[in-house]
Amino acid sequence: MATLFKDVLITDGAREKARRVHMLVSKGRIAEIIDADKNPPSADKIISGHGKMAVIPGFVNAHTHAAMTLLRGLGEEAPLMEWLQNKIWPVEEKLTPEYIYWGTLSAMLEMLSTGTTCFADMYFEMDQVAEAVLSAGMRAAICRGITAGEPGKIEKSIQNNLDLAEKYHGREGLITVQLGPHAPYTVPLEYMKKICAEAKSHGLGVHFHFMETEGEKNNLGMSDEKYLEESGLLSAPYVALAHVVWLDTNINLPENFTLVHNPSSNLKLGSGVMPLHSWLEKDAHVALGTDGASSNNRLDMWEEMRSAALLHKGVNRDPLCVTAVEALRMATYEGARAFGFSQKGMLNEGWVADLVLINLDKPHYIGVNEENLAQYLVYAGSSADIEGTMINGKWIYKNCEFPTLDKEEIFQKAKEAREAITK
Ligand code: NI
Repeated sequence: MATLFKDVLITDGAREKARRVHMLVSKGRIAEIIDADKNPPSADKIISGHGKMAVIPGFVNAHTHAAMTLLRGLGEEAPLMEWLQNKIWPVEEKLTPEYIYWGTLSAMLEMLSTGTTCFADMYFEMDQVAEAVLSAGMRAAICRGITAGEPGKIEKSIQNNLDLAEKYHGREGLITVQLGPHAPYTVPLEYMKKICAEAKSHGLGVHFHFMETEGEKNNLGMSDEKYLEESGLLSAPYVALAHVVWLDTNINLPENFTLVHNPSSNLKLGSGVMPLHSWLEKDAHVALGTDGASSNNRLDMWEEMRSAALLHKGVNRDPLCVTAVEALRMATYEGARAFGFSQKGMLNEGWVADLVLINLDKPHYIGVNEENLAQYLVYAGSSADIEGTMINGKWIYKNCEFPTLDKEEIFQKAKEAREAITK
């Protein structure tokens, strides 16, 4: 089935200027983009934009823990370690596979309605996450959060993560699997070496929390540069480092590294502000993520995009720092690239049709045009402007409905899970 976006504005993180076009989506891909003053191609379905609708690539949430929607609001206003040890970990012990399934679906409703087409998830019972993703037709990069604990636990987690990769990596083009060592303070260095060696031998990426807080940096026992070498991370096929608020900006990161900036979570947990400006000056790859719903507390990538664009201007006292187009690129293409999804995150002919339809017929878009669309979206817009979210050329969210998901059932089951774990 072909869908024509007739007379819409399009932009992405590689365009300084938007274009007014007809865009044809067919067989899951962007088949044709032509100027809006030309005759539109024919299609089964037509979305008539009349120049008052915009299309951008779907957001890629490059670091989250989706099922933590069930833990939202628990342990507010506490520092990271206190929050984890006293508020989060004890409740997480009560999570069953079934709860994680419904908690993940609940997160997916939230992400889809705010324009996210793909999310990078680190948690446990990841088979449940994979099944939730496949049932919806959403895209995800998944890893088992690996932590040490009672004897044998970490070995089991590593094997579990490798089994996950065996079963789901590449499934239906919707899922990639990474290895997910949780953080330096939960995974001893000897196991990091083992995990990175496994990543290398299986051709898998690594998704890791690194240098989130100053305390973590002080307790590392070596420089962060030395840690990257010693742990074997530098030889992993590709690496996504979440948070990196305290990562030494003198380090030269390899091309296959992506830093995942989580502005809201870092602000809420009082972790500090990642020196994004320095990393962008060094041409480091930076993507954006929400982190879990209990440390943000939103799974709204539009919000992260806007926060990233504003925060660093203020911190650096530089209005040119992090442009709207840069923020859009970090929220879309950079996340897809970071987790091994090719031809996603930009609106190019032949690329995959993972995209978001935005209604510009609202008072805060008066004055929008091809020259300023990205700036209007990032600074004036919000996810409330989203009309639809398309993945692989199919609507997964449209006009407040989720064609592939049973919203009422998900609400009910997620509520029951929440009640059970907080009893
Ligand atoms: Ni996290």
